[in-house]
Amino acid sequence: MQKMISKRRRNHPAPIAVVALAVLFCTAAMTQAEDGYRLWLRYDPLPSKVIEFYREHVTELVVPGNSATLDAVRAELSNGCAGLLGNAVSMANDVDHDGAVIVGTPKSSPQIARLKWEHQLALLGPDGFEIHSLVMARRQVIVIASSTEVGALYGAFHFLRLLQTLQPIDKLNIHEKPRLQLRMLDHWDNLDGSIERGYAGRSLWDWSALPEKVDPRLRDYARANASVGINGSTLNNVNADSQILSAGYLRKVAAIANTFRPYGVRVYLSARFSSPIELGGLQTADPIDREVAAWWKKKADEIYRLIPDFGGFLVKANSEGQPGPRTYNRSHAEGANMLAAALAPHNGVVIWRAFVYDMKPDSDRAAAAYDNLAPLDGKFAPNVLLQVKNGPVDFQPREPFHPLFGGMPKTQVMLEAQITQEYLGFSNHFVFLPQMWREILDSDTYAKGRGSTVSKVLDGSLYGQRLTGIAGVANTGSDRNWTGHHFGQANWYGFGRLAWNHDLTSRQVAEEWTKMTLTRDAEAIRTIAGLMLESHQAVVDYMTPLGLHHIMWGGHHYGPAPWWNTEPQPYWNPVYYHRADERGLGFDRTQTGSNAVSQYHAPVRDHFANLQTCPEELLLWFHHVSWDYRMRSGQTLWNELALHYQRGVDWTRKTRREWEALAGAIDTERHEAVAKKLAIQERDAIWWRDSCLLYFQTFSKQPLPKGVEQPQKSLDEYKAKSLVW
Ligand code: GCU
Repeated sequence: MQKMISKRRRNHPAPIAVVALAVLFCTAAMTQAEDGYRLWLRYDPLPSKVIEFYREHVTELVVPGNSATLDAVRAELSNGCAGLLGNAVSMANDVDHDGAVIVGTPKSSPQIARLKWEHQLALLGPDGFEIHSLVMARRQVIVIASSTEVGALYGAFHFLRLLQTLQPIDKLNIHEKPRLQLRMLDHWDNLDGSIERGYAGRSLWDWSALPEKVDPRLRDYARANASVGINGSTLNNVNADSQILSAGYLRKVAAIANTFRPYGVRVYLSARFSSPIELGGLQTADPIDREVAAWWKKKADEIYRLIPDFGGFLVKANSEGQPGPRTYNRSHAEGANMLAAALAPHNGVVIWRAFVYDMKPDSDRAAAAYDNLAPLDGKFAPNVLLQVKNGPVDFQPREPFHPLFGGMPKTQVMLEAQITQEYLGFSNHFVFLPQMWREILDSDTYAKGRGSTVSKVLDGSLYGQRLTGIAGVANTGSDRNWTGHHFGQANWYGFGRLAWNHDLTSRQVAEEWTKMTLTRDAEAIRTIAGLMLESHQAVVDYMTPLGLHHIMWGGHHYGPAPWWNTEPQPYWNPVYYHRADERGLGFDRTQTGSNAVSQYHAPVRDHFANLQTCPEELLLWFHHVSWDYRMRSGQTLWNELALHYQRGVDWTRKTRREWEALAGAIDTERHEAVAKKLAIQERDAIWWRDSCLLYFQTFSKQPLPKGVEQPQKSLDEYKAKSLVW
């Protein structure tokens, strides 16, 4: 139906039939089951009082111009407005009435051209937009304008969000500009349809059906991304299969890129460094070999012939067994720059991952990326970005910020966050991650004195980097609700919103998402947003409180296994990270230990290194602390640890109760689905508390403090079998 709408519109901008179809489309959406498929793009009728007010301001849509992106703008606005306002809003060629909504660029729209806004739109960059209430041709209108059509689409989504969240629209005066240029989802999807660390079904890309058949769902994926400003998508796993770069797969990739293009989502691919050997039949993948460089150049030319706006390569090199330049004794910069040279003529970029920890025996994994990469500062080509995980180990429930932020002033650094919950209870646990990302974004690196936050490193305001970006490892899959857990959608949404504007508070993001997605009941919104904001700390409490990290069951990382010590690499074992002994608990990263803390700038490093000033939530990350150490609460470390675990469990119970009470405010289908997940979360939290405390108790040799429940099973039982998800 969507196709029919856009085709007709191209010829006749305002036919009645179009409007009728739009209404039909929305009615269909409204009668649909509440299975979560529509994400936050739910256009059900607003409360009648609000509708009355909005209708005055939205009487017709004036979106002239022929292009796939403008078709998308028209479809979204007519579906959105018809649904939210309860009846169709007509399309018009020109402003006929008060309440016209005019959308486009100075090129696509004569109405916008007449405003002579070129200069101010240029200042907002290609993705930015303006939304203003003004008088045009003696009519009161709303103008949504950008210098590009994709920017106009972002503006249209912003406008719909205002309606969905019941904001006033009579005196609009909005200037929006994304703070980061590359706002990407990284999919760890394999070519066989499985997803590494994916917990929401199979891959969305059906490689066997492509390129002939493109799942219509991919358009909804692109819409969802565009609605929050996500403009890039890396389709395949960083542990890449070189086949993705074969001619056959590139045609499939091109079909996906064609579907995403109208929505401004560019496609990127993870490239396996040894592809010249596997695909090209060369003897080597040495980056300074002329034939190797020529192979990549030819490959890049081939890709851009098929996908003119291809974004570039994401590369995991010399990490966890992946090939890379170090295999040939070349540096990471030499590897990245060789690929960058192949992409540069096409304006493509190389996103080189900093997740490397090939290390000398006995060194600290948390220090490895910095040790490997910081010496290469200033050596990367201008179209290379270094993609750094939020913390120095690996997407743990809580980590300090990565010392490479603020540690490489002459390198374009971008942030890699993980939206999929590899270490945070998969798609079973309710945890609102924007809260955690805020902690990282707000961390002060002190790289150029006070106020040198990670945000400022990323957006280029600290070091003036030319290219900026952020990537999130996607939590999407073929599950009907996209993310497995309905609340997982909030993390996808929140990632996009923070990528666009890293100054948004997590409360604003939580409330927005809840209003758009779950309920318009003010009391319910307050309760839900409150739970969302508490959820991250609660999960940290029952998993890894006080700076503990990486104590998950080996391999799958679901559930606890602090006793684990059988992995071939010491730094894959929980015992390596918590270092429990009869004296105490925690990893000494100060001068008396690995001294990884020295990678931070003063005074951050002194703050972390001093037991008295180290934030307690990171205490065991930086210090080995005696069981009897007095915490700020006056409790001993042992008691405090146990109380944190209990607090986490208590939160899951409180949340279940509060969620139960929301039954009337949310549709039954999603309410029940979340309630089921919350029951699993409580079970898991108890399992975490009991097994961790029983195990650590074998070292502390102290009883559980008052207020902490007795374990439900014995330590041996917890050790015998992993928690199932
Ligand atoms: C983690 C994760 C791996 C992934 C790796 C990476 O270690 O467990 O599955 O490949 O991160 O980010 O490269």
